[in-house]
Amino acid sequence: MLLAKQVAVFPASDVATGQPIAARYARTSGRYLHKRSYSRQSAVPVYAVASNQASRERPVVLTSQDNEGEDCKVFIAPDGSVQEVMCCDYGFRSGFGRLYQGGDGEIPKNFFALGADNFRKEFKQLRRSFRFNEYKEIREQNPPTNPVARVVSSANKQIVRGLATLDHKLEDIGVLPPIKQAPLPEEITDNDGNLATDCADVREKLRMLRLENEPVWEREKRRAAAPEHAKAPFLVQVAYITLCWVLDFAYNKRPIQRFWFLEVVARMPYFSYISMLHLYESLGWWRAGAELRRIHFAEEWNELHHLMIMESLGGDQYWIDRFAAQHAAVFYYWVIIGFFAFSPQLAYVFSELVEGHAVDTYEEFVEENGELLKTLPPPLVALEYYKNGDLYLFDELQTTGTDPKRRPACNTLYDVFCNIAGDEREHVKTMRACRTYEIVSDIANRKLTRTEKADAVSPIPQSNGAGNGAQEIKQMDTSQLE
Ligand SMILES: [Fe+2]
Ligand SMILES: [Fe+2]
Repeated sequence: MLLAKQVAVFPASDVATGQPIAARYARTSGRYLHKRSYSRQSAVPVYAVASNQASRERPVVLTSQDNEGEDCKVFIAPDGSVQEVMCCDYGFRSGFGRLYQGGDGEIPKNFFALGADNFRKEFKQLRRSFRFNEYKEIREQNPPTNPVARVVSSANKQIVRGLATLDHKLEDIGVLPPIKQAPLPEEITDNDGNLATDCADVREKLRMLRLENEPVWEREKRRAAAPEHAKAPFLVQVAYITLCWVLDFAYNKRPIQRFWFLEVVARMPYFSYISMLHLYESLGWWRAGAELRRIHFAEEWNELHHLMIMESLGGDQYWIDRFAAQHAAVFYYWVIIGFFAFSPQLAYVFSELVEGHAVDTYEEFVEENGELLKTLPPPLVALEYYKNGDLYLFDELQTTGTDPKRRPACNTLYDVFCNIAGDEREHVKTMRACRTYEIVSDIANRKLTRTEKADAVSPIPQSNGAGNGAQEIKQMDTSQLE
């Protein structure tokens, strides 16, 4: 790709408001710029490396330096609109090994090397979790509210204290290496190594976000009373209620971590469906599900972005949350494989329930925290997904809608959560269509719409003779075969 050096100047006040200033900066076409200022001035010079021509057709990542500053990013959509991006990514995996970040697109090591790497990394985090007692922070956010929770909390305290003592002793006799607090990632620190002021402000606001269990259940009851609501068999109910109970118990008053856990588990069914459809194709039993595979991949891709949004907001910071979510994910993957093997409808009912629960939870969260969410900019990953100009996969997941497709705003964190709730509503509709087999006609309609669009763009030429162009092409193909 041809790269050319460009210089753009962004007034700090405009960047801070996040208002579109597209007309003035459309020349700096590309995807995002960094803006980190250590001494605030009226204008922030940004030296960007950009693609001139190619960026109008597809997004381009700009690298940048500035003289002043802090590492806030500015996203420039392919249409030239400019959007302030949340300055700090708080995720455990931030900065590496994620889509749109370092390591994106790499080929993995072999299974054993990767497993060993992960074990080393997580073992260190496990030690840190009880040596520096992150469970205390969790308890403070989600204090026990009933006798069972108090017993669990008390046992948890004793276990953490015991493990911390044991770890100290093993360190003293040289069995384990010394351990320190994890340093803050460079991208969220100032020159002195402290948490940057703007990051601290955003973190403080994120801590103020609230979600209560009861209103979510009220929504669930209203949804369950609707005539189109899925009547789940006993086994599916057990799997679903267990998941909801874990969310309510372990993630009460911890909404971002709750959403992160939910997103880790919620995309597992799509992995399971794709795995089973692959299996049937590999065995030569069934190939009619290829369109379905594409839809499930688009849904999984959508859930992946929800997951990364929650990571960027700090949802995966605690070791215990990662441990619980990843193990639950593996468990649910195999449960859904089992459901799908015996009855695809069972599997789709489960997904419909989980997706419905996600709708209730996100809608309640948006209603409860609307004003606060409107004061925060969107994370970069949200803009990469909703505003990157290539919405093919985003459109693919909307199976039951009609044209024109959704083109949601993404100016604040409020928009981001509204968009996620909207996506979850689409998942419910698709899962219901799969359960009732209406997806077959939905897929047929999509194909029809595609064909009509293609015809509108490049109509089949009419022949000079009696037949039409399509017939001529058909005849020509047949004659070639002969
Ligand atoms: Fe989701
Ligand atoms: Fe979903």
